[in-house]
Amino acid sequence: EGTKTNFPKNFLWGASSSAFQIEGGWAEGGKGITVADVNSFKRSEIQADSKVASDFYHHWEEDIRLMKEMGMQIYRFSISWARIIPDGDGEVNQAGIDFYHKIIDCLLEQGIQPFITLYHFDLPYALVKKYNGWESRECVMAFERYASVCLKAFGDKVTYWQVHNEQNLMVRVNERVNITADDAWEADRQRAQMDYHMFLAHALAVKACHSIIPDGNIGPAVSSTCTYPESNKPEDVWAARMNDWFKTDYCLDMHYYGRYPGYYMRYLEERKIVPVMEPEDEEILKDAKMDFIALNYYRTLCVRYLPTDEGHPAGERAFPINEVDFDQYGYFHHIKNEHLASSEYGAQIDPLGLRTVLNSYYQKYHLPLIVTENGLGAADTLTEDGKVHDEYRISYLREHIKAISQAIEDGVSVMGYSPWSFMDLLSSHEGFRKRYGFVYVNRDDHDLKDMSRIKKDSYFWYKRVIETNGDEL
Ligand code: BG6
Repeated sequence: EGTKTNFPKNFLWGASSSAFQIEGGWAEGGKGITVADVNSFKRSEIQADSKVASDFYHHWEEDIRLMKEMGMQIYRFSISWARIIPDGDGEVNQAGIDFYHKIIDCLLEQGIQPFITLYHFDLPYALVKKYNGWESRECVMAFERYASVCLKAFGDKVTYWQVHNEQNLMVRVNERVNITADDAWEADRQRAQMDYHMFLAHALAVKACHSIIPDGNIGPAVSSTCTYPESNKPEDVWAARMNDWFKTDYCLDMHYYGRYPGYYMRYLEERKIVPVMEPEDEEILKDAKMDFIALNYYRTLCVRYLPTDEGHPAGERAFPINEVDFDQYGYFHHIKNEHLASSEYGAQIDPLGLRTVLNSYYQKYHLPLIVTENGLGAADTLTEDGKVHDEYRISYLREHIKAISQAIEDGVSVMGYSPWSFMDLLSSHEGFRKRYGFVYVNRDDHDLKDMSRIKKDSYFWYKRVIETNGDEL
């Protein structure tokens, strides 16, 4: 491909997954039910749910062998809180601890470093019933305890930890955090309180990691994007900036400085949803120093300024329904960027955007960065010859790897690249048809077939990328 890359010798190549999306075994080994399970069951008439998923729970040895063969140096996966503590804050389930010990040991034997996420969308459902989940401070305490249990159990084997996966996105999708209020203001009030509690839980986990694991590294995994204005009209440019501030920047600022930036506080105050905070929180939030910033990157966005009184009932301040990509906070319309191609599921593909994001985070915080998700969701087909020709995925990944290489050239410190996903898995909300893996899992939404693992073309391509440290793309 001609482009010379420049990946440092110790650059970490890997691939990613999350517990509810791969494990299956949803009620085995003492595991409790989670919010992610409940959400997936609601959709089970039309698509796969989390009961079997990729059945990693029973195929883990074979799967880790495939990871090794592909050359992976890190495997970024998550622990299911409800496997470790089935009801979230009660008894510790030894079978759950044993399960993850087996996985970790097997990875280490194969020379693969575990890169563990503590919480990836799968809050134990019992905490919802007891406390309305993250709305309550009890949930913060429960998480701190769960995090400490994991850090103590696995800390002598695992040095890389992530706290929450995509808190900044998770909290904006009602079903992920179980916000059920019909009233938009009440939903936003709960959201703001939950978000704050998750920040606090993040800080406590960071502190616990540093005190339990002397050489431990821990940080957040944010959902990242960059937003373009529809035109060079100053209002459009302002709207694009705001979209980035409100989606990601406020979150990184909170992790880094331990306080909300001014514009975010203004939003909370105007909306009259400033969360309840305790005096001791200030110190907890300030003292928790993350070691790196992990980012998940798929696509970029484009917005048009939306005057605050447009499209809303007369007299109402324009903070309408808080959906992820639409008219958020009443300041902008999300529109299609005509300059970019889209995946079949509508994500606008933009490798240069990744270079922009890496530069902007690094210039602001000067912390090492790692990409823990990036990939292309597609309805792959298994051909007659038992292969998956996913050239489109190779081309997506290739261009994003080049963008990372360019960012390194710009002076950004990037520790590694761990795309989504190692194998096909349950999409966060679109079943099993939408696939991201290097390894095909032979099942459909409702037909479990033989669950066999089939290496896609991208598997062989990525293996070569790792072997050549990114020189052969
Ligand atoms: C990220 C999540 O937001 O995007 C993953 O961390 C998710 O859990 C991935 O699977 C892709 O999104 P989706 O909806 O296509 O599965």
